Amino acid sequence: MPANRFNGFSDYGVGIGLRIPHYQHILSRKPVVDWFEIISENYMVDGGRPLEILDQILEQYRVVQHGVSMYFGSADPLNREHLKRLKNLARRTGTRWLSDHLCWGSVDGRYTHDLLPMPYTWEAVEVTAQKIRQVQDFVEVPVVVENVSSYAEFHVSEMTEWEFLTEVIERADCGMLLDVNNIYVSSKNHSFDPFTYLNFVPAHRVAQIHIAGHSKFEKYILDTHDHPVLPAVWRLYARAIERCGPTATLLEWDDNIPSFEEVHAEALKATKFLKAAAQAAPESAVSAMEATAATLREQVKAESGAAR
Ligand SMILES: [Fe+2]
Repeated sequence: MPANRFNGFSDYGVGIGLRIPHYQHILSRKPVVDWFEIISENYMVDGGRPLEILDQILEQYRVVQHGVSMYFGSADPLNREHLKRLKNLARRTGTRWLSDHLCWGSVDGRYTHDLLPMPYTWEAVEVTAQKIRQVQDFVEVPVVVENVSSYAEFHVSEMTEWEFLTEVIERADCGMLLDVNNIYVSSKNHSFDPFTYLNFVPAHRVAQIHIAGHSKFEKYILDTHDHPVLPAVWRLYARAIERCGPTATLLEWDDNIPSFEEVHAEALKATKFLKAAAQAAPESAVSAMEATAATLREQVKAESGAAR
């Protein structure tokens, strides 16, 4: 199930994040890269160098937008000006899907600029799913929601993170950006089995996968994006590809950024997993079964609602 309605039915292969230290190399050497992910907020401007660079990149490469400030889980109403700028940028890039995080980060219009973990409650499920639907309706591009790494939990939570995430995504009828490094980081910080999480998420909605490196400290793990991908995260990635089929994969490397070649070589390690999954192919059958099961669940819900 490499391509689905959440990633514009497109098979993107392996990409890397577009970062300033690599601009010159990319524009002068024009290396072969399947696609680049950009941070939308860096290009939501009226003009100047960022957009000049972006336009040159767009002449050669496919670009997908990734956001960091939508805050689907904040109780604040959506910022219409932000949405308009996002939609304009989406028209410019032709992004096949738009991703942002399942988190909150603002209160009464004041922004923390952090991806804060949600309380996993039914009330939060409703509010968050409704907001994602509103964004999707406005931008007219499939919205894809990413699981974050976290370092704190709420006592009021009524379900696990993976149950919460799945409920939100199903109710919003959106796609998922599955970050396997974030699952690993949170699993160590909160003592759960990362494979339990991975095996629960709705594989048929996964439009894209993130891989990244992290840092281990004495009592916790930090999602630093400044290392190669660790073996434990590759094992999770292998399982994710087994479940989802070959899926657009993106390496995040945001700090202590090495040369373009080093980052790209690390990302391309994903290729062997994608090739193996493409050859095995039974996962498309698994995905189809999962999609059918989800449809049946929806029908049962609708019928039981109608019967009331
Ligand atoms: Fe990520």
